[in-house]
Amino acid sequence: MYKSLLVETENSTCIITINRPDKLNALNKEVIDELSQAIGEVYKDDSIKSAIITGAGQKSFVAGADISEFLQLDASQGEALARRGQELVFDKIENSPKPIVAAVNGFALGGGCELALACHFIIASENAKFGQPEVNLGLIPGYGGTQRLTQAVGKGRAMQLIMTGEMINADDAAQYGVVNKVVKQEELLNTVKQVLQVIHTKAPLAITKVIESINNFDHTQQGYDFEMKKFGECFATEDLKEGVSAFLEKRKPDFKGR
Ligand code: COA
Repeated sequence: MYKSLLVETENSTCIITINRPDKLNALNKEVIDELSQAIGEVYKDDSIKSAIITGAGQKSFVAGADISEFLQLDASQGEALARRGQELVFDKIENSPKPIVAAVNGFALGGGCELALACHFIIASENAKFGQPEVNLGLIPGYGGTQRLTQAVGKGRAMQLIMTGEMINADDAAQYGVVNKVVKQEELLNTVKQVLQVIHTKAPLAITKVIESINNFDHTQQGYDFEMKKFGECFATEDLKEGVSAFLEKRKPDFKGR
């Protein structure tokens, strides 16, 4: 039924594994469409009480949006890409009436970091790495990163992480408040399953109201709209074409500020 996901349900928890390990589980259009469908099932299926999102393999959770889809986009298509992903997947995860937890098993970069941040909380393995490296490509985060990372770590740390594009390890991410717990990779899925089993014992409608109430904290739409517009404007710059071309050609970019 799915081409880029593995989906199974165990003890009322739906485990959604993004399965493109040769591309470090990058989010292409197919992954976005299938994630939307799988999360829709989590919403609809009364036998499912929670979900886990993780990545296939031992190296990467998700290494970002699929960069190979970027070169052909103009500004309005760039904005549409961000809006589509936000509406179909990221907002749907954040606003899910059932808990959705990120089990971050490796690189969580760009859209991967944003995907983890859209989940209700994050548990990571010791080898996990978090970062928003979009500026290396002449881009900014477009799946909510400027908003959700700022909420998670505060303005100064979000500014530094997004402007430098630096990666932080799992322990630093825990210290920043991004990650709730760091465990050995072989214990990651079981740890998340156990936390969800505890939540399954609580009143489901109360859990839904907890999610709604926490999400309502300091939540404004204009920040997301502004980001999507600015994300789209990046596609009108020469530096985006240069950054993406340099990545794909495996060379250092030569940015001109145009
Ligand atoms: N989009 C598309 N393809 C990606 C990708 C992405 N975001 N991230 C990795 N890949 C692909 C690589 O192109 C490579 O494909 P290939 O084998 O066909 O050449 C494969 O995944 C393995 O990646 P590689 O770069 O060889 O692994 P590495 O261990 O040397 O480096 C990273 C790992 C994560 C540091 C590096 O892949 C990277 O910087 N990825 C991009 C991260 C990023 O900028 N994300 C934000 C996008 S907006």
